[in-house]
Amino acid sequence: MKRVAVLGATGSIGASALDVIARHPDRYAASVLSAHGRVDELVALCARHRPQHAVIAQPQHHAALREGLAAAGLATQAHAGGEALAALAGSDACDTVIAAIVGAAGIASTLAAARAGKRLLLANKESVVLAGELLLRACRQHGAELIPIDSEHNAIFQCLRGAPADLTQVSRLILTASGGPFLNRSRGELAAVTAEQACNHPNWKMGRKISVDSATLMNKGLEVIEAHWLFGMPAARIDVLVHPQSIVHSLVEHVDGSVLAQMGRPDMRTTLACGLAWPERVASGVAAPDLGTIGALTFQAPDRTTFACLDLAYAAIKAGGSAGATLNAANEVAVAAFLAGRIGFLDIPAIIRATLDAAEDLGAADLGSLLAADASARRAATARVEARA
Ligand SMILES: NC(=O)c1ccc[n+]([C@@H]2O[C@H](COP(=O)([O-])OP(=O)(O)OC[C@H]3O[C@@H](n4cnc5c(N)ncnc54)[C@H](OP(=O)(O)O)[C@@H]3O)[C@@H](O)[C@H]2O)c1
Repeated sequence: MKRVAVLGATGSIGASALDVIARHPDRYAASVLSAHGRVDELVALCARHRPQHAVIAQPQHHAALREGLAAAGLATQAHAGGEALAALAGSDACDTVIAAIVGAAGIASTLAAARAGKRLLLANKESVVLAGELLLRACRQHGAELIPIDSEHNAIFQCLRGAPADLTQVSRLILTASGGPFLNRSRGELAAVTAEQACNHPNWKMGRKISVDSATLMNKGLEVIEAHWLFGMPAARIDVLVHPQSIVHSLVEHVDGSVLAQMGRPDMRTTLACGLAWPERVASGVAAPDLGTIGALTFQAPDRTTFACLDLAYAAIKAGGSAGATLNAANEVAVAAFLAGRIGFLDIPAIIRATLDAAEDLGAADLGSLLAADASARRAATARVEARA
């Protein structure tokens, strides 16, 4: 029986993970569940999945969580705060950790799981963008088994049969992008789009932050950085192709001209089942795509001028050092401001670009430097939001 910690259990990935776990009570048990501030939702998940531990990241909700669990008659132990979250991720309470917190806030618990040598199912792409080199090193040093959960990286992982990329045999990684809700729109048409329109993704049901990232193409930019670290691939050999049907999740091109692709419906339960059971396969609740009905799979180049965030991510890889941390933090601030209705859609790339251009490189040698770059970028981006709001 594998004991699984689901960090970010109340989110979209959390729901998909718990759905797969509940389908296999003989193989998996959810032993740790966490949320940020939504106590009632966390207690409801505990009533359903009966974990040993529940963690609420915001410490002020500790008492509410304890009382909620007691009122529901549950034996689940209540914990609160980031330190408790990281301690449980690295503890004997779990063998597998699903890192599904949104944003750089996921880094401490993700690193703790890596340092404890867990099987790490990584959805929290921002922690790789923030501290990819550090995280991968921790996995290697402590024997953690990192399985990417982002559908694109999971596709590449499957095409590589779970082995590290052999850079002499693989010529290119090709990440597919749905294009998001604003595919084929012009810059002029994007000026007045709303948060609701940006979150209305044609294929995927996801949290609001990643939905906006998808609409700006920053999601693909973050994924290019993620692929660079996870597979050790130079940015010049990572490409992006828009594929509006979201059936081919990514492709691996080999030096002999052979291209392998992985296909599946746009439903994260497939990648989560793959990560839980790898190298075996278990049912995920998702049917295979019916290609006869889908009919056509199409591909096109991304519009890099209108959707400027993609090239900002390539620029961050080129700059190196703490640029990934800066890019990610500026994006988190700008997206939150856009979701709050304080800035326009086109302000997002403008704020990120200005923050990146002005940032000092604080290096990537240790987490302290990266978190300092993150904090500095948040201050700078917040000032730019204030100036525009
Ligand atoms: N959704 C997808 O299909 C998808 C696909 C690929 C990758 N991902 C990645 O997976 C991650 C999660 O995405 P999502 O769409 O599931 O997000 P989501 O629906 O917004 O859920 C986020 C989860 O993280 C918790 N959380 C938020 N801020 C936190 C903080 N500061 N400290 C601790 N916990 C915090 C939330 O708790 P509360 O509910 O209490 O706020 C919630 O459980 C992101 O990195 C995203 O890029 C998602």
